[in-house]
Amino acid sequence: MERPKNCIIAIFGASGDLTKRKLMPALFDLFRQDLLPEKFAILGVSRSNFSDDAYREKMLADVREYCEKSPVQNDKMQEFLKRIFYLSIDTKTPDDYTQLKRKLEELDTRFQLGENYIYYLATPPNLYDIIASSLGAQGLHRQGKDSGWKRIVVEKPFGYDLLSAVQLNKRLQKFFHEDQIYRIDHYLGKETVQNTLAFRFANGIFEPLWNRNYINRVEVTGVEHIGVENRGGYYDHAGALRDMVQNHLLQIVGLIAMESPPLYSADAVRNETVKVFQSLCPLKPEDVSRQVVRGQYGSSTIKGEAVPGYREEKNVAPDSRTETFVAMRFNIDNWRWGGVPFYIRTGKRMPTRVTEIVIHFKRTPHQLFRSQYTSYDRGNQLIIRIQPDEGILLKFGMKQPGAGFDIKEVNMDFHYSDLSDVYLPDAYERLLLDCILGDPTLYARSDAVESCWKFVTPILEAWENDPDIKIYGYPAGTWGPKESQGLLGDPREDWRYPCKNLANDGIYCEL
Ligand SMILES: NC(=O)c1ccc[n+]([C@@H]2O[C@H](COP(=O)([O-])OP(=O)(O)OC[C@H]3O[C@@H](n4cnc5c(N)ncnc54)[C@H](OP(=O)(O)O)[C@@H]3O)[C@@H](O)[C@H]2O)c1
Repeated sequence: MERPKNCIIAIFGASGDLTKRKLMPALFDLFRQDLLPEKFAILGVSRSNFSDDAYREKMLADVREYCEKSPVQNDKMQEFLKRIFYLSIDTKTPDDYTQLKRKLEELDTRFQLGENYIYYLATPPNLYDIIASSLGAQGLHRQGKDSGWKRIVVEKPFGYDLLSAVQLNKRLQKFFHEDQIYRIDHYLGKETVQNTLAFRFANGIFEPLWNRNYINRVEVTGVEHIGVENRGGYYDHAGALRDMVQNHLLQIVGLIAMESPPLYSADAVRNETVKVFQSLCPLKPEDVSRQVVRGQYGSSTIKGEAVPGYREEKNVAPDSRTETFVAMRFNIDNWRWGGVPFYIRTGKRMPTRVTEIVIHFKRTPHQLFRSQYTSYDRGNQLIIRIQPDEGILLKFGMKQPGAGFDIKEVNMDFHYSDLSDVYLPDAYERLLLDCILGDPTLYARSDAVESCWKFVTPILEAWENDPDIKIYGYPAGTWGPKESQGLLGDPREDWRYPCKNLANDGIYCEL
């Protein structure tokens, strides 16, 4: 693999949670595989006071705690720490950026890094605008033959609704060109999400079936068993639709539904996913209560342990109407998918943590074995498991051995873990490397972000404007309000439940 060009990675938000849990461990993992440039420097930037040595001490402890892949070797770690530096500034104060500029120039000269800089924005989102414009005011966005390249990585959330997303894009683009902006959606960095592309476009047998003629419906589930933990303050302003659907789950839909790009390049792939987002059938206000079910978890007992309800969580308003669960039905208005419903479901405090795509194929046109008293009466399912236990599962009917023709459902099950010595890089590892290499294929483009907001914003507005749209309660540890089943329209159909409810089935309460 090509060794990336020398560069500085400046992390804004260097004392924060994301840096400690994800960014530094991912950079160290890249370093120990010799995937980082031959010469590089990491500059941590935030307000807290650290000397370089004190910050290195903190990073050493954090990487040891959060590097999950294998034990951290001391000699590699010491080498890595030597490349880490720290600068304390208030990024809200434009004057502080002269210090930043001086520091970047000093590191660049010392290590001969060719003025190639990555600015990673891991700060609260209200600072993205001022950081980008202050970098621009210092000329730190300029790139060219003699001044290296400059890239800016922006963490989610990209806006709060369509209007704020458009404004944020405009502000970022005031100084940075679109191809310098890397909007990170860590779902796209997951190996199994990328494998969806390989599965579809490197195999001849699935693609001919991948359309309205053979597929009955598509289901995407991304749920967690944990609650809001210590992120109540953020979550209560965001909710499940903004936190999971607008970005991660719609990005997955983009990969599932896109046409084959003419070549594997950033623009070719992203052009195709954007076409999917632009074809999402908009929901009118009156469709929202029919096609979207929202819920909020209530207190419960899970495995003998009392679990608080959402409204009892820290930093959550006691009368909050923020949704912790969303299930919805929508259509993609194009030739391939006309008439095929897509279903998305996400929630907190579900019975398990799982992200998976389920392709439900149509039933056979003729039920040949119906007269044989078979209980098998459904279409085949193809399940792409994104996490955990990454893999692919195909469910189909087989004859029970013996008399008659009773059909039983069986599985063909591939687990990534069956590949010997498989190394599944963390999503941040893959995405950081792509950014250093200048490959934005797996990053969200501005038109994609805006198209997704365009689809989601009317739902948020309908919830805000119509107090009659219900928010259903569900006990923590269950699969959410039973109303989500009603979205499927056909009583013979249901969502796929990768594991059983932990609390009692069917208990729900209306808020
Ligand atoms: N944590 C995650 O798992 C996660 C996942 C996906 C996306 N994100 C996104 O990543 C971003 C960071 O999240 P986080 O959880 O790491 O937040 P966090 O723990 O609150 O960290 C925020 C960082 O920003 C710095 N900061 C705040 N105000 C500043 C200022 N005026 N000048 C300089 N630095 C300032 C803070 O440092 P000082 O207080 O020392 O200045 C701290 O290092 C957010 O936008 C979040 O939405 C986070």
